[in-house]
Amino acid sequence: MACHAVIPAAGIGQRMGETKPKQYLSILGCTLLEHSLRPLLACPALDKIVVVLQPDDPHVDALPLLRDERVLRAAGGSERSDSVLGGLALLQGIASDDDWVLVHDAARPCLAAQDLERLLVTVVDSGVGGLLAEPVRDTVKRADERALVTGTLERSGLWRAQTPQMFRLGQLRTALDKARQERTTVTDEAMAMEQAGYPVQLVEGSPTNIKVTVPDDLLLAQFYLSRPLAEKTL
Ligand code: CTP
Ligand code: MG
Repeated sequence: MACHAVIPAAGIGQRMGETKPKQYLSILGCTLLEHSLRPLLACPALDKIVVVLQPDDPHVDALPLLRDERVLRAAGGSERSDSVLGGLALLQGIASDDDWVLVHDAARPCLAAQDLERLLVTVVDSGVGGLLAEPVRDTVKRADERALVTGTLERSGLWRAQTPQMFRLGQLRTALDKARQERTTVTDEAMAMEQAGYPVQLVEGSPTNIKVTVPDDLLLAQFYLSRPLAEKTL
């Protein structure tokens, strides 16, 4: 049984407000996409890594890391889940339904090798698909459209979902297809799996595994990426 990865990198980065998609912005001399890809390439357990791109992507050919023979390219779609499905469709031609697949955002450049390893070991040992996540540490409010508080959520039991998210290739594709047919918006793979009735395991990851969404996140990612390796632990 093999293990592969899909990196959705076909977004436009609207909230970042830059002239090019955020996966092509640079931190410390490398693009976010390369930073996100590097720990996956360094992981011996991973076989193929599919990078999902906008069909007319003009930036990708300039990136040396993408020329690694384990890296394949697929075309993305209008929603993140469409892009993931594009990557899974490519894998399905060369992999088995029972193989594991890790989906990792191109916009998460600070994934630590230890966190990736913990996810892999936990999921392979238990056989239950799962994702990196962090317990919520803030008090979380619910509010109405005027921003008036309607309640405070019980914090214990709340987690922030990260990527990678790791599931069986065949089950994930079926679950995402089902969500698409039912026109349900799924914002991550785990949501599609939950809705299809599968158990989903949370595996604690570092809070430094941030998703770069708005310009301030870029500074934080740069700070985390510039730390010495020894400091990059949970
Ligand atoms: N993504 C994708 N295909 C899409 C939308 C998103 O492959 N149609 C990817 C992004 O490139 C990113 C990841 O999914 O690596 C997480 O999505 P998000 O942070 O929302 O990125 P964008 O959609 O690019 O940003 P925004 O929502 O601000 O436009
Ligand atoms: Mg988006």
